Amino acid sequence: MYQNFEYYTPTKVIFGKGTEVQAGKLVKEQKGRKVLIHYGGKSAVASGLIDRILKSLESEGISYVMLGGVVPNPRLSLVYEGIKLCKEEGVDFILAVGGGSVIDSAKAIGYGVVNEGDVWDFFEGRREASACLPLGVVLTIAAAGSEMSNGCVITNEKGGLKRAYDTDLCRPRFAVMNPELTMTLPSYQTASGAADILMHTMERYFNQSDNMNITDSLSEALMRNVMKYARILVDDPKNYEARAEIMWAGSLSHNGLTGCGTGGGDWASHNLEHELGGMFDVAHGAGLAALWGSWARYVNHAAKDRFVRFAINVLGVVPGTTEEKTIEKGIRVMEDFYRSIHMPTSLGELGISPTDEEIEQMAASCEQATGGANGCVIPLKKEDMVQIYKMAR
Ligand code: NZQ
Ligand code: ZN
Repeated sequence: MYQNFEYYTPTKVIFGKGTEVQAGKLVKEQKGRKVLIHYGGKSAVASGLIDRILKSLESEGISYVMLGGVVPNPRLSLVYEGIKLCKEEGVDFILAVGGGSVIDSAKAIGYGVVNEGDVWDFFEGRREASACLPLGVVLTIAAAGSEMSNGCVITNEKGGLKRAYDTDLCRPRFAVMNPELTMTLPSYQTASGAADILMHTMERYFNQSDNMNITDSLSEALMRNVMKYARILVDDPKNYEARAEIMWAGSLSHNGLTGCGTGGGDWASHNLEHELGGMFDVAHGAGLAALWGSWARYVNHAAKDRFVRFAINVLGVVPGTTEEKTIEKGIRVMEDFYRSIHMPTSLGELGISPTDEEIEQMAASCEQATGGANGCVIPLKKEDMVQIYKMAR
């Protein structure tokens, strides 16, 4: 029987060339009067994007303060700094200029400004936020989908804990998406972004629900498109059409659309990857690609229909003589795709070699973060996760 679902995507999208000059107008529309401009390490300043944003705010008479320095796997310490700055300066709107890390750091600051106590409590599941400061986004990398998602992922450098906190309160009010801005990305980040975009739909696709055909069909088209255009970008990184296709897919893949009626999806690979990010500071999408094949081989027997459909409809596999053969072919084709865009298919290729103790530690931490059952295809316990990490070596 089809499951009931809620679909909530309040983010206004402004998509296309040159759209970032509208930032000031958009903030004004949201009644922002004092803005925190939050950004990353280098790229947004070096490309001149920050200057264009400042001009756009100034032309609307909007005052601002700035806080840069967000790093991939964004750190809690900078979030604390941002909260303090916003309180001192009376900031009432946050403009995140960057990718998932900048947006998530902005969301966490937003929670911290309007809720008393330690913002990390939310990420540890100790209590719930009641509000979040409004925020908008100028996106510079197609990947995490945070520009339209309810997600926020922060790393607490004390203990290397990377934790997610999901509520509709932090969904951005607007997202400016100019695909041209992504043309300066290093090829590794472009590919890692594509892997993450794919996984946001794959996590929802692999489930134990009666799936609506409309959701499956949208998901399959999205995944085929991302693979097609990610391959094109390997040799032609300035291809506007490919950049545009991937950027829009990134938002649709994580705004809830491909999860309608799926009962939420699996998310085990994401939870396993967050442990890698916390311990080894790897790029999120690359970490997912390195783990996925091992996860798929470990759990596929519990959702054979889904894996067969994925192999045929997404990867174009010609069915084998048994379901098992079709599934294994599908997993191999997926791994070939990752290799074709220079993404890793093992932890070794990702550049890390966790010891047995480190694997035990990640699995224990993941078990704690997921309440003892990670995913829905097979709810993974600590021992299962240890096996998957070891298979991924
Ligand atoms: O700091 P700069 O210099 O900008 O460099 C960044 C960074 O090194 C660079 N970059 C971004 N735009 C660029 C650029 N370089 C050149 N030109 C540009 N236009 O790219 C690097 C990666 O940036 P980051 O923001 O970390 O990438 P991404 O968007 O992949 O975000 C990853 C983070 O999002 C989390 C991940 O766990 C990870 O922490 N996620 C957030 C989700 C959410 N909030 O819904 C869901 C995801 O599953 C994910 O977990
Ligand atoms: Zn992700």
